Amino acid sequence: MDIIELGSKYVMNTYKRLPKVFVKGEGSYLWDVEGNKYLDFVSGIAVNSLGHCPQVVTKAIKEQVDKLIHCSNLYWIEPQIKLAQILVENSCCHKAFFCNSGTEANEAAIKLARKWGKGRYEIITAEQSFHGRTLGSLTATGQEKYRKDFAPLPDGFKYVPYNDLEALKNSITEKTCAVLLEPIQGEGGVNVPTAEYLKGVEELCRKNNLLFIVDEVQTGMGRTGKAFGYQNFEISPDIITLAKALGGGVPIGAMLAKEEVASAFTPGDHAATFGGNPLATAAAVAASSVLLDQHFLNSVVEKGIYFKNKLSDLQKQLPQITKIKGLGLMIGCDVNVDAAPIVEFCLEKGVLINAVGGKVLRFVPPLTVTKEEIDQVVEVLAKAF
Ligand SMILES: Cc1ncc(COP(=O)(O)O)c(C=O)c1O
Repeated sequence: MDIIELGSKYVMNTYKRLPKVFVKGEGSYLWDVEGNKYLDFVSGIAVNSLGHCPQVVTKAIKEQVDKLIHCSNLYWIEPQIKLAQILVENSCCHKAFFCNSGTEANEAAIKLARKWGKGRYEIITAEQSFHGRTLGSLTATGQEKYRKDFAPLPDGFKYVPYNDLEALKNSITEKTCAVLLEPIQGEGGVNVPTAEYLKGVEELCRKNNLLFIVDEVQTGMGRTGKAFGYQNFEISPDIITLAKALGGGVPIGAMLAKEEVASAFTPGDHAATFGGNPLATAAAVAASSVLLDQHFLNSVVEKGIYFKNKLSDLQKQLPQITKIKGLGLMIGCDVNVDAAPIVEFCLEKGVLINAVGGKVLRFVPPLTVTKEEIDQVVEVLAKAF
């Protein structure tokens, strides 16, 4: 039986998978089981921001794995403390909680907001948002298609159109404790809000004593050309959630909070056995040393502009491309045709890209990508259309 047949037999059917099996990665490239090479602009969906198997991370993992792999949070964990310090020093928050994924980071944020709210429990989120698959984060997700078969869902979530301040204002009640938003919506189609909107949300939160939670699971750790996506908009959120790129490819999630919010949690309120374990946090400390470096972030901005310009040139020749959007190296391309065959054509030509919502091509390449690699992808894309 070949690998894909075995997979279909034994692995649960929760993904629509393309028929490739990748066995090796280096930098911007992946190799399949037959030895074919692919240029990867999916990056494990914004996880492999330093490319595949970056030496800075593999070295840290190898060193840590010989020292200590797991240790309970009943004790202090050195690389966890180091990582917390790095994240705090690079953000507007003061304390970190660690877990293992994006959905878990959002669950932690939901619980912290409710505890802080002292009886107020309602959280306002946006239509087209994506916050994860566990019941709390799933309910926070403003897309009916993900929620519809899983009732009864927890109470206390409200959805409003993204980038519509008036709608948000009108949905606040005496039960509201927080607003949860992605600084740029990823899964919902790479939607960039206006700076006025996010600033307005912050003002509304301050006026109504609500927490402003930003889900930076996809936008965080340099993806948008800033350490965190919110930093593009001159706002100062109360809670930040992270995962994806944080561990340089290793699973890890985090929730950061300002001191006065974080202090609502006391021992016993929240926990995760593997959260902040030595192996994952050592990898994340190493990844952060590059991802949060200002020169590196500047290069992300520069390459993002280069990529968008190239796509704009393409748009001039192709009426199928209707809009180019995004920030840094989180780029979306609206198309007026079915995106799936374009993704499949690119795959056959050795280029991995991804589509969201059927009509948006999403590009989240490694942040270490070169301009030549960007050129290559644009060339294949032109042929695909
Ligand atoms: C903005 C955002 N939040 C949360 C999640 C969920 O993260 P995870 O799959 O690690 O649970 C995702 C995943 O795509 C995401 O894009």
